Formats: sequence, C-alpha cells, structure tokens
Amino acid sequence: MSPIPLSRIPVDDEIKRAVLAAIDSRHYILGPECRAFEAELAGYVGVRHAVLTSSGTAALWMGFRALGVKAGDEILVPAHTAFPTVEAICAADATPVFVDVDPWYTLDPVDAATKITPRTVGIVPVHLYGQPADLAGVRDLVSRFGLWMVEDCCQAHGAAWDGRRVGSFGRAAAFSFYPSKNLTVMGDGGALVTDDEEIAARGRRFRDHGRTSKDLHVELGFNLRFNEIQAAVGRVLLGRLDAMNERRRALAGRYAERLAGLPIVLPAERQRARHVYHLYVVRAPRRAELARVLGERGIQTGVHYPVPTHRQPAVERFAPPPLPETERLADEILTLPLSAGHTDTEIDEVAGAVRAFFRA
Ligand SMILES: Cc1ncc(COP(=O)(O)O)c(C=O)c1O
Repeated sequence: MSPIPLSRIPVDDEIKRAVLAAIDSRHYILGPECRAFEAELAGYVGVRHAVLTSSGTAALWMGFRALGVKAGDEILVPAHTAFPTVEAICAADATPVFVDVDPWYTLDPVDAATKITPRTVGIVPVHLYGQPADLAGVRDLVSRFGLWMVEDCCQAHGAAWDGRRVGSFGRAAAFSFYPSKNLTVMGDGGALVTDDEEIAARGRRFRDHGRTSKDLHVELGFNLRFNEIQAAVGRVLLGRLDAMNERRRALAGRYAERLAGLPIVLPAERQRARHVYHLYVVRAPRRAELARVLGERGIQTGVHYPVPTHRQPAVERFAPPPLPETERLADEILTLPLSAGHTDTEIDEVAGAVRAFFRA
C-alpha cells in the first residue's frame, strides 16, 4: 500500500506553463500577474479590493494596522486557531482576548460577549477547517458593541454563509495560500481583501515600506510584497477552486458514510453554512493510539492544534483564563487525510483502517 499524505497538492502542465510564462515575462514583483490575480480574487470573494502579500499572517497584520489598532486595544479571538491569528494581533501591538469555541469548533459569540470591555475594538472570527464561524452571532456583537470584524479566511477559500462567500462580511479579511490550503500558490502567500478603499490603500502601503511613491515613505511598513510566478499559479488554481472544493465536499461525504456508527464525532456542516473541508477533523477516543496505528499503515494524520493558542508560552504575559471546550478539543481531535487530490480508494482505505482499529 502506498502512503496516504494528509494533503496532496496539484502539480500539472498547465501550472508549469504559467510559471514558465511568468519567468519569461521578466516582471517578478507586483506586476501584471499580481494585478490580475488581485482583481480575480476580489471578484471571487465579492469585494472591491484584494492586496496580495507574503503570507496570511502578513495579511492579518496589515488589516489590523490599517484599522488603526494601537497598544492597549483588545481584540476577541478564538483560542482554537492556528497560532498566527493571535501572533498577528500581538505584532500589531494589541491584546488578544481568548474566546472559547462553540459546538462547531469556531468562536463562541456567547462566550465572546462576556469578555467585552471598554477597551475591546474588534473581533476575529476564524472559519476554521473550512467551516464558517457563526456570522449571525458575530455580526450581532459587532453592531451591539460598535466593534469591527476582521475575518480569518486562511482555511476557508470559497466557504459561504447564507450563500455569500466568507471574506465579504468583515471590514477586511485575510487569506493564506500556504501549500496545503484549498487555494495555494505553491509556496507562502496571502491576501488582505476588503471593500474599504482606505484599508486597501493602507494595506498596499504597509506591504511596500509605507511608500506612496518611489521615494516617499509616509509611514512605516515592511517588505511584504508578492511575486509574479506565484500569482500566475494562483490564477490557474483560483479558476479550479470551486471544482476542488466540490471534490473536498464529496470526499467528506464519503468519509461520513464509511465512518458512520463508530465511537467518533464526525465533522458536520452547520446550518446556513457551506463547509469547504480544508481539514477533515474527527474527535476520537484513544487518539494517540489511533494515530499511531494509522501511521504504521502509511496513513498520515495531524492534530490541528495540540496546544491551544492561549496555552502557548509566547502569550503567557496575557494570563489567559482556562477555556474548557478548547482544552478538551485539543486532547481529542485528529485530522484525517483529505484534499482535492485524494482518490476515492484512498479515502476508503483510511476509513477501513479506522473501522478496523475500533473493531479490534
Ligand atoms: C487559521 C489560520 N490563520 C492564519 C494562518 C497564517 O497563514 P500563513 O501561514 O500564510 O501565514 C493560517 C495558516 O497557517 C491559518 O490556518
């Protein structure tokens, strides 16, 4: 049996041709491929502006800075997320206020409401694993308490709420194009998307040393620019994103049929949401043993994430309180292989191995 990776990245002649054409163009940074990818991505999400940058983390940081975040400002964030969500808040000088998760593993608006103080300025719903966060609940907090919302869409390209794509609900949103993501650029990359002209303009400045023209730097930014070769890849894959997401959804459905009746909790799509299954995460008893047995059969698994962000040494100074749901999840979750590049047979093999484990 050949090994089954967690995720398989598409590599084919169309992508290679796009890369070679970008090399031949002799434009390498923020050129025509980048501008075209920005326009196409903004159109796909349903907003007016997309600002390409070097990573999803950079996109989040640019969004917070563009919103004028300053030291002492508090930002509500789910503890159950990839560490960069929290790191970007800290890098923008703000204070992360950690929120527990709801039954869908995304930010719990009820817990968030109890953590609002006069210093709270914003909220960052993370559409984790490809599942939209409770946008009705978050929007209610935003309007009741006068907050802004920045969506973390780094795992949710093409996911939707009430039929509208995520990334179009907040004042701004961040996407990542890291290799395993639903939409990748074959390396690091990210985008800040927004309807707001001023946020887009500041984002463009921050990614290029705060300059407004070649020799004029009106504020401090950094070098967070993007490149033509990867933009060319992104354009090819954006054209396939809906089909790739459909494939992910079909494979998730296949798992659901084949794993039914076992003592594990399967992922489900919440009402009003379109889940794009960036990660297929189950909750399993004897998780470590299950992962070891699957590993022995060449099946790669993962834990996203074993140490919740509020328990990371880097944020100890904020003295985060315990978050029972998040902490329980961290001990039980296991990510099974799933991507648009997996075959039906591979999914059946994984499901068969999980069934055999619980039968034994
Ligand atoms: C939820 C979430 N937020 C932020 C990031 C950061 O993205 P990047 O790795 O492109 O900096 C990631 C990806 O790692 C992520 O999964």
